[in-house]
Formats: sequence, structure tokens, C-alpha cells
Amino acid sequence: MENLEPTNNQQPITAPAGRDTVLHEIGRVIESLPAYGKHHILRIHAPKSAAVIKPGQFLHIYCNGPIVQISERLVDPVPEPSGLKRLKRKPLLRRPISVFRRDSDQGEISILFRQVGLGTEALSAYGAGDNVDILGPLGRGFDLDGDAPALLIAGGIGIAPLTALAAELLGRGRSVTVLAGMRDALSFPLLLDNSSTILGCKAGIALMCEMGAVSAVASEAGEPGTHPGLVTGLLEIFLEQERAEDYEAFVCGPGIMMARVSKMLTEAGVPGQALLEERMGCGIGACMACVCRTRTRGEETKYSRVCVDGPVFDIKEVVW
Ligand SMILES: Cc1cc2nc3c(=O)[nH]c(=O)nc-3n(C[C@H](O)[C@H](O)[C@H](O)COP(=O)(O)OP(=O)(O)OC[C@H]3O[C@@H](n4cnc5c(N)ncnc54)[C@H](O)[C@@H]3O)c2cc1C
Ligand code: FES
Repeated sequence: MENLEPTNNQQPITAPAGRDTVLHEIGRVIESLPAYGKHHILRIHAPKSAAVIKPGQFLHIYCNGPIVQISERLVDPVPEPSGLKRLKRKPLLRRPISVFRRDSDQGEISILFRQVGLGTEALSAYGAGDNVDILGPLGRGFDLDGDAPALLIAGGIGIAPLTALAAELLGRGRSVTVLAGMRDALSFPLLLDNSSTILGCKAGIALMCEMGAVSAVASEAGEPGTHPGLVTGLLEIFLEQERAEDYEAFVCGPGIMMARVSKMLTEAGVPGQALLEERMGCGIGACMACVCRTRTRGEETKYSRVCVDGPVFDIKEVVW
């Protein structure tokens, strides 16, 4: 796995034993769109990755500035800071970002991310025509073998991978209900509307409604039409409904939210999968930076690597 440096070629990289081939692809940004809050969407032409990526898998992206800009800097170098200051300015490691939407016919992948630091800030500066260095698809995505109605539970930016999942499940003819939690409507990346007809909410997610899913939102700021409070409050009402245990749940959000949601689902007898967003180093199973504790049998536990054993796990497998 030595060839992790950016090149202008597309080349397959040997995958860990038993995994699909990992592609190294130089994608091209088609569109760069600021979204609500500190969020951003990049539409990327990356046909090889778009052909094979599954919901819940991620791209490991080199965020060291668009390649065009780097080569421009070589021609006309600006004074570079040295030592620690230099390291602080340029993210050395790739950053893992989930697939948000994909169009395999057009060879396009979109990512939706929140700007939290150096890497995501650099990514948000990419513009149309810039090259973006991608390693992927990485990780084990969602298991899509079931046929139960799907309950998707998102906290904040956790809506990004669940949007790709919703599209895939709807395409397979499964019904999709989305419960989303947010601090307030303006810090959530997607547009809200009045499409909700469930759980006493009026506020839903416009994109989910367009795609054919039912949605309801909980807001800590309690805007009119939302469920005031946390997404666990919405889930509590959902689980009181008849036949809630017929659903299969899919969860992504902050760790504390996923822990609480997983406990509620397990107690209610609802099976589920959760996407863990641990910090990563290599992204390919070599450095152990991303481990989480999982159950093997009974109370026995072990460390699993989120990048290759996950990022999607059965909710009962994770030691929350
Ligand atoms: C499998 C996977 C999929 C992901 N998908 C998405 C996605 O679709 N959209 C998105 O916005 N983000 C996603 N993330 C999180 C994203 O990778 C991080 O936000 C990003 O790496 C931060 O890089 P940075 O250089 O901007 O921030 P840094 O400068 O590295 O860190 C800035 C701050 O963010 C915190 N931070 C960094 N990474 C994480 C993390 N993984 N979890 C919690 N806090 C973190 C740091 O502790 C620090 O306080 C995903 C993570 C994983 C593991
Ligand atoms: S990030 Fe290196 S082992 Fe997971």
C-alpha cells in the first residue's frame, strides 16, 4: 500500500486480503456549493469510484489543496512557513468522508461535509475544475440484504451517509422513514420544509420528501413544526407505535447520540446498524488509529478497526 501520494493517474491499489480493490482516482470537481451552517457540498466526477461505491462506504481524500494550486505554487512559490507552523497549515493525512449521493450513469459522487478543521476547510476551497485525490471506496458499507421498512436516525451531519442509503433503499422498493436531530434549523445542512406527516411534526427534510421518504425533525431550538428537543424524543414516540419492531434501523450521528439510540432500539427489539465516524490515520487497516471496542461472543470484547471492519457495525456489536 505504499502508493498513497497523489499522482495524475488512476490506478488500482492492492486491497487488504478479502476486500474489493481500492481505487486511487483523481476526480474533478464539477460543482462546489456552500450549504447551511458550516457545511459544503462537492460534486465530483470520479467514474471509477462512482461505479462501485456503496452507501456507508467512504472516500479517503487528500485535502492538501487542489492539485492545480499545488503545481501553481511550484511555478511561482510563495514563502512557506517552516516546521510546526507548516504542518499546522497543511493536513498530512487524508480525511474520510462518506458518499452523500452518487450517479453512476454520470460517473458522479457528491460529498457533504461540515467544516471543522484544516482538512475540511481546505476541501471547501476546491472549485469547479480542480482535481481531487481520492482513495476508495473504503470500509464495509451498510448491509442491504433485509426487506423490512427502514428507519433512518440521523444526528446533524450524520444525515450525509444516510441520504445515500435512503436513495439506495428506496430504489430497492423499501419504505424509508427518517428521523433527524439538529441544534437548530440553520446549523443543519439540508433544507427543511413542511412535508412531515408523522409523530406530530410538520417539519421534514425537503430532499427526503423529493426522494420519496417520510421524515420528521427534532430541533433543540424548537422551531415551529419541529419536535422540540433531541432526536431521541422523536424516537421514543416512534417506538410507542404498533409494529415498531418490524423496522430495521440505520443510525449515524455523534457518539453519545448513537449510544442512546442503540440502547433504545435494542430494548425495543428493533435491529439496527450504526455508522461510526472515528478519527482515522491510514484508512486501510494498518495503523490502528481508528479502533473501537466490539463484542465477540457474550461479554467477550475485542478491538475492531473502524476503517476496515466498519465503519458500519451491528448496534449490538459495539461497546458504546
Ligand atoms: C467513515 C467516516 C465517514 C465520515 N463522513 C463524513 C461526512 O460525510 N461528512 C463530514 O462532515 N464528516 C465526515 N466524517 C468526519 C470527518 O472525517 C472529519 O470531520 C474530518 O476528518 C475532520 O478533518 P479536519 O482536518 O477538517 O479537522 P481536524 O483539524 O482534523 O479536527 C478539527 C476538530 O474536529 C474534530 N474531529 C476530527 N475528526 C473527527 C471525527 N471523525 N469525529 C469527531 N470529531 C472529529 C477534532 O477532534 C478537532 O476538534 C467522517 C468520518 C469517518 C470516519
Ligand atoms: S485508520 Fe489506520 S487502521 Fe484504521
